Amino acid sequence: MLIHSASQLLTLAGGPQRGRTLGALGIVEDGAVLVRDGRIVETGPSAALLAAHPGERRLDASGCAVLPGFVDPHTHVIWAGDRAAEFEMKMAGAKYLEILAAGGGILSTVTKTRAASAEALRDETRPRLERMFAHGTTTVEAKSGYGLETGAELRLLAALLALDAEGPLEIVPTFLGAHAVAPEFKGDPQGYTDLIVGKMLPELKRWWAAHAAGRALPFVDVFCETGAFSLEQSRQILGAARALGFPLKIHADEFDNLGGAALAASLGAASADHLVKTSAADIQALAQSETVAVALPCTPFGLAESEYTPAGKILDAGGILALASDCNPGTAWNESMQFVIALSCRALKLTPAQAIAAATINAAHALRLADRLGSLEPGKQADLLILSVPDYRMLGYRFGTNLVRTVIKRGRAYAVDGGVHPLD
Ligand code: NIG
Ligand code: FE
Repeated sequence: MLIHSASQLLTLAGGPQRGRTLGALGIVEDGAVLVRDGRIVETGPSAALLAAHPGERRLDASGCAVLPGFVDPHTHVIWAGDRAAEFEMKMAGAKYLEILAAGGGILSTVTKTRAASAEALRDETRPRLERMFAHGTTTVEAKSGYGLETGAELRLLAALLALDAEGPLEIVPTFLGAHAVAPEFKGDPQGYTDLIVGKMLPELKRWWAAHAAGRALPFVDVFCETGAFSLEQSRQILGAARALGFPLKIHADEFDNLGGAALAASLGAASADHLVKTSAADIQALAQSETVAVALPCTPFGLAESEYTPAGKILDAGGILALASDCNPGTAWNESMQFVIALSCRALKLTPAQAIAAATINAAHALRLADRLGSLEPGKQADLLILSVPDYRMLGYRFGTNLVRTVIKRGRAYAVDGGVHPLD
């Protein structure tokens, strides 16, 4: 298939973009992409590719910008129920960590998720994945973390693997048994930490070999936060996970600066995420590492808070910045990376070009998949978007409507139809 005549073809070629190099879109005007067997074969000017491949099936992208599919590298997309009542309480003044300490918040979603059948969980999650895909996300990271005991956590991972097999949205799983202290260990975070280290992680390793043989191990993540896991407990969990060969992630500095970002950097984690309260020293530690700084602006937005990730400081220090939705029922039920981009332009002071690079090639690097995803280069997976608009800056500038016309995943094209159709 030859996608041709794109007003702008954004290749994002050249690998992850560190510090102030962020925003190199690699634009080809009147560009074309040749796709075969789910991979990108060639990109370049339309005239050259049309002449070189006259017999190829064509897809006309006139008047449209074309870019890599969005990679959303931080979500909690599998859960049961909702927290609309808590949203109302928060808007009336209740605080997120206070609701959690009172047994609500994450723990209320844990109760509903534990009670849901595997089928019900998949059925609640599938429409969210479909909406993500329709808004241009072609790969999504998805965390467990609403089970908080071995069986329930593994059930969430099994459901994620099943949803990944259904496609077309590709799912990269993460084990987040350390999302909150399990209700059975109320007041004893160290007891639950010891269980994760001594029992859950080794069990996960065995389960994975039996149920996902041949697949890369999932990430292991920890919510390093006041009221969740301390820096030392996070170190114990991530250290044990690393010794078992798991790649690592961390939730750090969402509400308090506990030092999780520097811990992630020192352990070689793929990413440190949230980073709202991150200290200057922790920003330096991140910037001197390969650990990607993942900003989740929907979270302060969703909680109506005014402080966001200091993206400019991270870029000035030379860090690798990525963006994610954090889609979850408590702080940020948003399924659109287009909205993340628009919000990042305003709240993180990114340009549209920087936000797009942070949501594609750098987001792929936060999953350690930048060799396969996140840019349009020969040999890479053919995951791309055809927008309904000719100029990439419409992403960011416009918000609240879907600008994606066609999503191409592994070389297969899906039309996005947001139209209104009469019922009779
Ligand atoms: O990333 N911070 C922890 N986890 C989520 C919130 C999950 C929830 O409230 O259900 C987050 O914001
Ligand atoms: Fe999160």
